[in-house]
Amino acid sequence: MHYRAMQLEDYDSVLALWQSIEGFYIYRVDDSFEGLRKFLQRNPHTNTIAEHNNQIIGSVLCGYDGRCAYFYHVCVRKDYRHQNIGKRMVERTIESLRKEGATHINLIAFKTNEIGNLFWHDLGWSLRDNANLYSYTLDSANTRSLTH
Ligand SMILES: CC(C)(COP(=O)(O)OP(=O)(O)OC[C@H]1O[C@@H](n2cnc3c(N)ncnc32)[C@H](O)[C@@H]1OP(=O)(O)O)[C@@H](O)C(=O)NCCC(=O)NCCS
Repeated sequence: MHYRAMQLEDYDSVLALWQSIEGFYIYRVDDSFEGLRKFLQRNPHTNTIAEHNNQIIGSVLCGYDGRCAYFYHVCVRKDYRHQNIGKRMVERTIESLRKEGATHINLIAFKTNEIGNLFWHDLGWSLRDNANLYSYTLDSANTRSLTH
């Protein structure tokens, strides 16, 4: 297994991976080629992919805004799960964030995502239940579609 930073050239492979993950939301603008280009330009070092036999089988998308880091699209292809690949990608991403001086990371795990919540809990992450998540849409073209 090889872990490395995500490159823009990985776009087709990572999009195919995200589309294969059950229960993922794919955003029309944010997850477009241009969306990833913008994201990687701002965050070139803090994203991780896992690669095996020249295939991308896992990803952690991570943005750091100078105060807080956020994780998105954390996933491992179904036939590669339970091999600590998710854990290793998270560790690699955390290491890259330490180098940038980040102090904390937030992410959204849907309440219905039992495995996702178990994963974060078992990795020692704290569940915040004292805050509400607010969203405000700036671009109505950024619709989302559920994978399956
Ligand atoms: C969540 C996900 C990324 C975990 O990837 P993974 O490579 O299988 O996870 P790991 O092997 O690194 O597991 C690390 C730990 O998480 C916990 N864990 C992972 N999957 C679990 C499961 N199905 N049930 C219970 N605990 C689980 C275990 O404690 C595990 O440690 P262990 O193997 O020593 O028991 C993967 O299941 C996935 O892609 N799910 C779909 C997408 C998703 O829900 N992403 C999270 C969005 S918030």
